[in-house]
Amino acid sequence: MKIYIQGGSGFVGSHLTRRLASDGHEVSIGTRYAKSAQHLSVVPGVRIVQCDPFDDGQLARALAGQDVVINLVGILNERGFGGRGFQRAHVDLVAQLIKGAEAAGCRRFVQMSSLNAGQGDSYYLRSRGQAESLVAEAAARGRLETTVFRPSTIFGPDDSFLNRFADLLKISPMLPLARPGARFQPVYVGDVVEAFARSLSRADANGQTYELGGAEQWALKDLVVWLAGQLGKRRLIIGLPDVAGRLQGAVFNFVPGKPFSSDNFKSLLIDSVCSGDQPGFEALDIEPWGMADLAPTWLGDKTRQKRYQSYRRQARR
Ligand SMILES: NC(=O)c1ccc[n+]([C@@H]2O[C@H](COP(=O)([O-])OP(=O)(O)OC[C@H]3O[C@@H](n4cnc5c(N)ncnc54)[C@H](OP(=O)(O)O)[C@@H]3O)[C@@H](O)[C@H]2O)c1
Repeated sequence: MKIYIQGGSGFVGSHLTRRLASDGHEVSIGTRYAKSAQHLSVVPGVRIVQCDPFDDGQLARALAGQDVVINLVGILNERGFGGRGFQRAHVDLVAQLIKGAEAAGCRRFVQMSSLNAGQGDSYYLRSRGQAESLVAEAAARGRLETTVFRPSTIFGPDDSFLNRFADLLKISPMLPLARPGARFQPVYVGDVVEAFARSLSRADANGQTYELGGAEQWALKDLVVWLAGQLGKRRLIIGLPDVAGRLQGAVFNFVPGKPFSSDNFKSLLIDSVCSGDQPGFEALDIEPWGMADLAPTWLGDKTRQKRYQSYRRQARR
């Protein structure tokens, strides 16, 4: 198949590109800056397409002849305030990609969303829900087959979730944590891309929304304490009451790069765990990993590294 991935240069996109290319697909990575996808230029069967998805002409050229369009574009924080950044990256861009895919005669549109899309007060989750509505409208028009994935937090050796906490734990003797009891179901990036890859060849994935969660649920504070242990760091992890967590978000709104924000705090008010209504891994016959089994293999525990390599050999991944 010819597969175009907008946002394919990032964390998930890099894993997905390698996976799909190894299956023999012709993968085109749509990126706003060709340089950010250079690390994938050596993968056989992969083409890098510099494309501003808001430019109709560039998008039409990028999508011509493609069978599948996958949208992996997502932001955790916007540059300014008021939700306009989320609206553009999560909603307007999806409208644009769907319009382009329909015009180009593509067969399938795959949307990366997230658990709890459309719930709560954060711009992040609300804009995710609006994007899913656009995908549902496209499905109803009947010109595209559609599949939506809703993962919990995704982990892997090169993620920005565990690595961000790991960086903080390495430099700081204590860590004040907003929403310490917020629950997650961390999902391995290899399982996420496996789900994407399998869905492409399955007719029954058409029209589906799949939730993706790993084998374990974690409270945020437990997860950070566990991570500190894996890194061999004795650290004071302080769970903040909501009044202080909210304040932390309000202050970090103004820190360059927004490592945390009021919008992130609002997203954390809803647990990021699967509802059980749309079990993606079960439907796609995948048994997901848990973080405690897998992450130590790159966090430093050599015994577990060996165990993981043996698992991989057995699973032929
Ligand atoms: N990582 C997780 O834990 C997690 C959990 C749930 C859902 N997701 C979703 O999964 C998708 C992939 O996540 P990821 O971790 O791989 O993200 P990532 O590494 O940040 O990559 C996302 C890509 O989106 C593109 N992008 C970013 N802002 C954009 C904008 N304003 N307009 C157009 N393109 C933009 C970038 O590509 P270029 O700069 O090359 O154009 C970037 O490489 C996202 O939709 C994310 O929200 C991720």
